[in-house]
Amino acid sequence: MAPIEVKKIVCIGAGYVGGPTCAVVALKCPHIQVTIVDVNQSRIDAWNDPDFNLPIYEPGLVDVVKGCRGRNLFFSTEVDKGIAEADLIFVSVNTPTKKSGLGAGFAADLNYIELATRRIAEVSTSSKIVVEKSTVPCRTAESMRTILEANAKPGCRFDILSNPEFLAEGTAIEDLFAPDRVLIGSLQSQEGLDACAALANVYANWIPKERILTVGLWSSELSKLAANAMLAQRISSVNMLSAICEATGANVDEVAYAVGKDSRVGPKFLKASVGFGGSCFQKYSLNLVYLARSLNLEEVARYWYAVVEANDYQKNRFAKKVVDTLFNTITGKKIAVLGFAFKADTGDTRESPAIDLINHFLSERARVTVYDPEVQESQIMLDLTDYGAKPAEPIQKAVTVCPSALEACKGADAIVVVTEWKEFVNLDWQSIHDTMNKPAFIFDGRNILKRQELKNIGFKVVSIGTGDRL
Ligand SMILES: *[C@@H]1O[C@H](CO)[C@@H](O)[C@H](O)[C@H]1NC(C)=O
Repeated sequence: MAPIEVKKIVCIGAGYVGGPTCAVVALKCPHIQVTIVDVNQSRIDAWNDPDFNLPIYEPGLVDVVKGCRGRNLFFSTEVDKGIAEADLIFVSVNTPTKKSGLGAGFAADLNYIELATRRIAEVSTSSKIVVEKSTVPCRTAESMRTILEANAKPGCRFDILSNPEFLAEGTAIEDLFAPDRVLIGSLQSQEGLDACAALANVYANWIPKERILTVGLWSSELSKLAANAMLAQRISSVNMLSAICEATGANVDEVAYAVGKDSRVGPKFLKASVGFGGSCFQKYSLNLVYLARSLNLEEVARYWYAVVEANDYQKNRFAKKVVDTLFNTITGKKIAVLGFAFKADTGDTRESPAIDLINHFLSERARVTVYDPEVQESQIMLDLTDYGAKPAEPIQKAVTVCPSALEACKGADAIVVVTEWKEFVNLDWQSIHDTMNKPAFIFDGRNILKRQELKNIGFKVVSIGTGDRL
């Protein structure tokens, strides 16, 4: 019989999902001991940092950790001890996209999940509820179950749940405090349903019951991929309309506004931009493509692949527009890139459109200055180096990371806004204009700037999805 009242939770993996999620569980459930374990000593040290310089940045996260670390929230590298003591185990390890072998570039690498699962089987001496929290393709829970059952010690029972995380970076803590929904998938056997109820009871400490959805194991797993792919598809759809707007003189913000007024469509997530980034949309869309392919559903695979292709097209189109507008050459010109994170209110740069754009500019031999309020210089340099492009000169020479937007824009030929940080809207644009080469161009990759004010100052403003001529 699985333990129905959860008293001790361990979370394997102290990354973007496991860290914030389990910290919030600890804060909201003072009667449950929560231990987050990770093999990475420096990551655990950062979570335990006396000055709360945590390894990830999320608004509100520091306060959550301050509220319960040392009380009922612990961070440790003692993975085995954590597993052995726990009633419920969150498996929240990395599932990066495979770089080689079958499904390279599309399929998730399940190596870390398998290693964690085998470890659980090996060190467990009592029954556990094992919760798959990493986002994984359908039927991974099934593989986990097979591994656990084949290796279980006598008297140990493992019940597997799928509990995908839907939090958005930048609002992770907010999302965790008041999620739209919590999804728990289980086998429909009595034991499966009992395990499901045990986890639901944990969440019920702060989440209204009607928001805790319980479904079958496979539906739960597929829902996570589907939710991400459909959000990505929404952005790609509006971005593909932006290209038509630019060619015809329509305005994509107006089109999106009109379309979003239809209550069946809704107004959210209809903002045209330079393209989506982040660790989820592209990755899970491609996971879905792979899943469809492996099920011999070629047309389905092609449909979802087009969502990702459209995003690449949008990024390229924007970069090309910068070059075309600057009289077809940016060689030796100075381009100021404002924002490097993949979206505002996060320091996360994974798959950020800024990386593609800057590499495009470098390959055209421009000089690039970058300012982002949250991203460290070392991260920017690492992302640009990792990209694998071969700029004409060393990155350190071609790219300068600046401490302010004003600094980055000094003497620039063009400004490219890549991240929708609020502070960019109300910069001292007059002073910036004074320091720039003329004509001074601004490319607003997020359509956040006040176009008319900028035009009045003398800027040439290029936005996404407007047919305006300069
Ligand atoms: C360990 O964690 C640190 C801090 O989060 C990170 O910078 C580093 O890349 C991690 N090392 C490995 C091998 O994952």
